[in-house]
Amino acid sequence: MTQLLLILLPLLCPATAADPLPPLWGGSQHWSSSVLFTDEADSPLPNKTWPMTYFYDETIKSELYQHGEGNGDMVCINVAHYPPGDPCNVLTAPDGHTYIVHLETNSCCRSPRHLGMLKSTWMINSNTTYNGTATINGELADQWTCMGSVNGENNYAATTTEDRKPVAFWEEKNNLTKRWDFVLDTYDVSQPDSSVFEIPDSCTKICSLRT
Ligand SMILES: *[C@@H]1O[C@H](CO)[C@@H](O)[C@H](O)[C@H]1NC(C)=O
Ligand SMILES: *[C@@H]1O[C@H](CO)[C@@H](O)[C@H](O)[C@H]1NC(C)=O
Ligand SMILES: *[C@@H]1O[C@H](CO)[C@@H](O)[C@H](O)[C@H]1NC(C)=O
Ligand SMILES: *[C@@H]1O[C@H](CO)[C@@H](O)[C@H](O)[C@H]1NC(C)=O
Repeated sequence: MTQLLLILLPLLCPATAADPLPPLWGGSQHWSSSVLFTDEADSPLPNKTWPMTYFYDETIKSELYQHGEGNGDMVCINVAHYPPGDPCNVLTAPDGHTYIVHLETNSCCRSPRHLGMLKSTWMINSNTTYNGTATINGELADQWTCMGSVNGENNYAATTTEDRKPVAFWEEKNNLTKRWDFVLDTYDVSQPDSSVFEIPDSCTKICSLRT
């Protein structure tokens, strides 16, 4: 009987035994990295790629996107109504609100809608399947695909090493690509200084709905 089970088990569960499990977003509950961000679906600019610095700390429920020159981010443009191309920070603070800062003028407004932040376990708690390895930006990566109920197919690639550094994230939105390419040598797993998530003094008003 025992022998029969030993023979049968690999046949019964062929996939789960071999496939790497999906990692945490960025490999940890806190980290930071430079990113080359591409948003073909939302950017109104001719060049739909721009540099972004990203800070993540789920332990204090905070997330910061520092969008650089060439910024085509829909939150900066459509929620805060800042000019496309201008550097802009999108901060989800420990109070649960999202604050949007135009760096050149230091103007800031709070999103009227709850935007929330990414959960580190979003792949683990979803219908995620392993999609093999690929070399992305020169880095060997494991890949996973996750079928979202709202936003369709999400793809994530992380290093094959135990620390699971982020390599790329991409999704299709109306057949157009939204993509993060992580600049791997800027990845830092240490907890960002809490000052990066401080709400600027200028963030006193709510973003107006454009009429
Ligand atoms: C678009 O902008 C990115 C980021 O600044 C840059 O790396 C890339 O070369 C630009 N592409 C073109 C076609 O100018
Ligand atoms: C999970 O994803 C797979 C592959 O995309 C799909 O075939 C399956 O129907 C999905 N299951 C659920 C419960 O959504
Ligand atoms: C799987 O990986 C390949 C290679 O990186 C990628 O082109 C594709 O979008 C990924 N997702 C699926 C569902 O095939
Ligand atoms: C995406 O492309 C496929 C294949 O070209 C097409 O069948 C589908 O209608 C497109 N979807 C959207 C939302 O444009």
